[in-house]
Amino acid sequence: MSNSGNSTVSPYFLTKSEFSVLFVFFSSLDEQPTTQCSGDHHDRPREARDMNLTKTLTLAATIAMIAIAPAMAGDAEKGEKVFKKCAACHSIEAGKNKVGPSLAGVIGKNCGHVEDFKYGKGYQAACEKGFTIDEAFLTEYLQDPSAKLSEIAGSKERSKMSFKLKKDDQIADVIEYLKAN
Ligand code: HEC
Repeated sequence: MSNSGNSTVSPYFLTKSEFSVLFVFFSSLDEQPTTQCSGDHHDRPREARDMNLTKTLTLAATIAMIAIAPAMAGDAEKGEKVFKKCAACHSIEAGKNKVGPSLAGVIGKNCGHVEDFKYGKGYQAACEKGFTIDEAFLTEYLQDPSAKLSEIAGSKERSKMSFKLKKDDQIADVIEYLKAN
């Protein structure tokens, strides 16, 4: 609704179509030995064996990615529950600030975008260097807001957000929830 379509896509969130592209790519590897060893068909050339090894390795890598991707992708429904922890200080409604700024459509926005919210000094110092509130930023910021702002600012800063979300899965889930709002 209020999300202006700025959300970013993480490398971990492979869509079905991306998997299809990978699949086509790996299938095409099958054809390479025949095109490459057109010269000598009598003794099985070493390239063919190397190609088999490459295929096995890439297949293993693909299987690993397929297994890992869903585990890393967040779940917006679970994220809604996690957001209860945030709701003491944040509203998902546009224009409604609490102790913290409104988080309506926050993903993909530039720092300091809530104009009527008074961000803290540490936040402002980091924002002068510039950052976007995307998935990569939030994954670290939610774990330790002051540490992330300090890293960006290049000096020791404190965030006004005195809350840390430590669990990786809850972080991924709440980010999915924010993307959807
Ligand atoms: C104790 C209150 C509190 C809690 C709980 C809290 N926050 Fe915050 N949050 C703040 C404050 C205050 C700021 C402004 C930071 C500053 O100015 O240093 C902030 C800033 C943010 C920002 C940056 C927003 C912007 O406009 O740049 C995001 C994103 C955010 N919080 C997400 C969350 C999420 C997600 C949770 C729950 C997992 C959460 N916060 C829990 C108080 C809180």
